[in-house]
This record gives sequence, C-alpha cells and structure tokens, in this order.
Amino acid sequence: MLHQAKRKRSLFSLIFAGLILSVGCVGTKQAAVDPNSIYARLGGQPAINAAVELFYKKVLADKSVNHYFEDIDMDKQRSKQKQFLAAAFGGPVPYRGKNMRKAHAPLDLKESDFNAIAGHLQATLKELKINDKLIGEVMAVAASTKDDVLNK
Ligand code: HEM
Repeated sequence: MLHQAKRKRSLFSLIFAGLILSVGCVGTKQAAVDPNSIYARLGGQPAINAAVELFYKKVLADKSVNHYFEDIDMDKQRSKQKQFLAAAFGGPVPYRGKNMRKAHAPLDLKESDFNAIAGHLQATLKELKINDKLIGEVMAVAASTKDDVLNK
C-alpha cells in the first residue's frame, strides 16, 4: 500500500517536472531565422564557425597584421567573432561583446590593416565555395564596420 502511494507520488512529480520543463522551453525558444538572411544562406552557425576558423588561420599567417593578435586569447577571439558575424548576418543569437569602436580603438588601425583583414575574409569565403553574390553581401556587412574599426 505504502509502496503504491510512493510510486504514485513519484509519478506525479515526474509529470509535474516534465510540464514545468516544457513550459520553460517554450518560454526560451530562439527567434526564428529568416531563410533569406545572409546567416541562413551561408549555412547557419556551423558554416560561420568553419569560416571563422579558416579566416583566423589566414590572419595569423599574415605578417602584416598578425602582430596585433600576439597577446590575444585566440580561442576567445574566434568565439567572439563567430558570435559577432552570426548576429550581423541576421542570426538568432545577439552579439554580447564590445562594440567595434571600443574593441579596436586602442589598436590604432590603418586603412591597410582593414583591407588586409577584409581580403582574408573574402579569400576564406572563396575557398569555401560561397557564391560571388553572397560574398558581395558579406563584404558589404564587413565594410559597414570600417569607420568604427578604424575609429574614424
Ligand atoms: C571586418 C572588420 C572587423 C570585424 C568585424 C572585427 C570584429 C572583432 C570582434 C567581434 C572583436 C571582439 C571584441 C570583444 O572583445 O568583445 C574584435 C577584436 C579584435 N580585433 Fe577585430 N574586427 C575587424 C577588424 C579588425 C582589424 C582590421 C584588425 C587588425 C588588423 C583587428 C584586430 C582585432 C584585435 C587585435 C582584437 C582583440 C582586441 C582585444 O581583445 O583587446 N580587427 N574584432
């Protein structure tokens, strides 16, 4: 008898916990992604992650700009860049890092530094066989950060 009551009670708590959990999940549901966004057309977060990995390989191999990253924790940098680009391309997760002006102001970057970085981004997307029209759209987003990155 006692056993049965106990089993009933634990069954009830299990159902109750399940209900709470599912209500919680509905409440935290991520915003739907626009299928026409750059984010979606690139292939979502996995594609952006792969692009950022390849992009920093190119950046770190470039003597004209790699000195800027000498003392930088590159795991964190890659992760922030993945979040920034995903958000800038219309992804569902907001960017929570520093704004572009604050993040780059102490570096005193030149136009040639920006062009080098933009060139590596473009070469990365070419290598990943992204079509030229989409590359153009990505580069326009990158260009929209230029004044902030160069603190103009
Ligand atoms: C397309 C233009 C660029 C974008 C979208 C971009 C994006 C970012 C992002 C998201 C961060 C992380 C900010 C944070 O800490 O929360 C960052 C930091 C940084 N960026 Fe850029 N960046 C751009 C251009 C450049 C250029 C041209 C250089 C140098 C050649 C550069 C060098 C750095 C460095 C060294 C940091 C680390 C700063 C620190 O942690 O103190 N970035 N950038």
